Amino acid sequence: MSTGREDLPEIPERMLSLRNGIDHPDIWIACDGIVYDVTNSRLWKKGRHYEHWAGQALDDELPDAPHDREVFANLPVVGRLVQM
Ligand code: HEM
Repeated sequence: MSTGREDLPEIPERMLSLRNGIDHPDIWIACDGIVYDVTNSRLWKKGRHYEHWAGQALDDELPDAPHDREVFANLPVVGRLVQM
């Protein structure tokens, strides 16, 4: 039995892009190919986190943050990001 990331649901990029805080009630972000749910985060209200916006992969923006990947540890995982 495998419990690796390949078991996670596939989330197409276009689905993530609509979870941006405007077009859909759910708010998602991605990092390292994993999609996270920040709908209930008070720090991502309306899809905005400081100068950063939900609905996309934010790997390139993480170096600008005062924190590292530890902030993802407690977020619900939605699935893994795929290009479709
Ligand atoms: C100007 C840039 C940023 C600032 C000032 C900032 C600031 C913060 C602060 C103060 C927290 C609270 C937890 C902590 O202090 O460690 C936090 C949490 C978080 N940040 Fe950032 N951040 C920035 C950029 C980013 C970027 C680029 C991402 C995504 C790659 C990100 C993702 C998150 C996530 C997922 C949380 C946890 C939210 C939660 O658990 O409710 N942040 N950030």
